Amino acid sequence: MPLPPPREVAITVTGVNHHYGRGEARKQALFDNHLAIHRGEIVIMTGPSGSGKTTLLTLIGTLRGVQEGSIRIDQTELAGLAPPDQVRMRRNIGFIFQQHNLLDAISARQNVRLALELSAAPRREHNQRADAILGTLGLADRVHYKPRNLSGGQRQRVAIARALVNQPRIILADEPTAALDKDSGAIVVSLLRRLADEQGSSVMIVTHDNRILNVADRIVNMVDGRIVSDIRVKETMVICAILKRCEIFKEMSPSDLTDVAQKMREERFANGATIIRQGDIGDKFYVIAQGRVHIQVESATGTRAVASLAEGGFFGEVALLRDQPRNATAQADGEVLAYTLSKADFLAAVRAHRSFEAQLSAQLFHRGG
Ligand SMILES: Nc1ncnc2c1ncn2[C@@H]1O[C@H](COP(=O)(O)OP(=O)(O)OP(=O)(O)O)[C@@H](O)[C@H]1O
Ligand SMILES: [Mg+2]
Repeated sequence: MPLPPPREVAITVTGVNHHYGRGEARKQALFDNHLAIHRGEIVIMTGPSGSGKTTLLTLIGTLRGVQEGSIRIDQTELAGLAPPDQVRMRRNIGFIFQQHNLLDAISARQNVRLALELSAAPRREHNQRADAILGTLGLADRVHYKPRNLSGGQRQRVAIARALVNQPRIILADEPTAALDKDSGAIVVSLLRRLADEQGSSVMIVTHDNRILNVADRIVNMVDGRIVSDIRVKETMVICAILKRCEIFKEMSPSDLTDVAQKMREERFANGATIIRQGDIGDKFYVIAQGRVHIQVESATGTRAVASLAEGGFFGEVALLRDQPRNATAQADGEVLAYTLSKADFLAAVRAHRSFEAQLSAQLFHRGG
């Protein structure tokens, strides 16, 4: 079975600092932030008030200039971008912010059409597309209303329709469901999920709304201007499912398993690639998610095949546990998708989880080295 294609990175944040104010009043709001967001990914940002969520969102949205560090959207670097290029970048971004700035003199449909006028969509389709998205958001019977004749939640939904009607590649939302009732909130969330799945849009949402947490691919937590955790929800679930089938992890509790899974990284190997080499220093532990791996040992008398591991198999633990060079070579037999754990994280997991340790010693005993 061919491996799933690697996911394209859409937004890359590297070493971003941000200051507000000048002189005496100068205050740092962001400290050394790093983040990579893929196509089709929904990332939720949480964190206490004043932790820098909106600041980071507006920097990514080119609503504010990057002062220190780098933000790339696809191949475009935002730091030092000229104002006309900033305006061009913003056309690919759907913004859903609290202050929705609808024009009060025109109808809901005309407000949504304003966004279509900046796009390549043929003019004759504008009404139909505006009405379709307003309908999806439960406003079919309100397309001719002016914003002042709509409720707060309805106005918010018009603003959301305007932000999403062009199916933007990037969607940035700051508390998008705060003003919405339960049903409208759920509609907005499923629309965002659909855009992510069907158009590959990358969605970043600042929210504390639990209903949104359920559709998140990642949950990023900020505290005092720093990203303090970045949890990959779906991938963690996939890794947990693999780990559960894996002999040494099967005694672990779901929460311990999740801790381990969150620290693992995806790695791919081409057919025939050497994954670890006998005699090298060990730096990682490997779990096979897809494909087969041959393990062989070299000695004075020649090369001896010792094992062929399939999905759910694991290797690389001996060198880490004994602090010795690799005792065997592992080679990909066909394409291999593996999840790896760094030596430090592996040893921390072994120490923290008694069942893991017990399982490992049993395994080591069987393998005899
Ligand atoms: N325009 C501004 N001028 C000066 N300081 C600002 C400005 N905007 C934000 N700050 C400060 O920067 C820090 C981060 O603010 P930010 O608005 O990004 O936080 P937030 O996480 O979005 O908070 P909230 O959850 O309340 O919206 C805060 O200390 C805030 O006071
Ligand atoms: Mg904010």
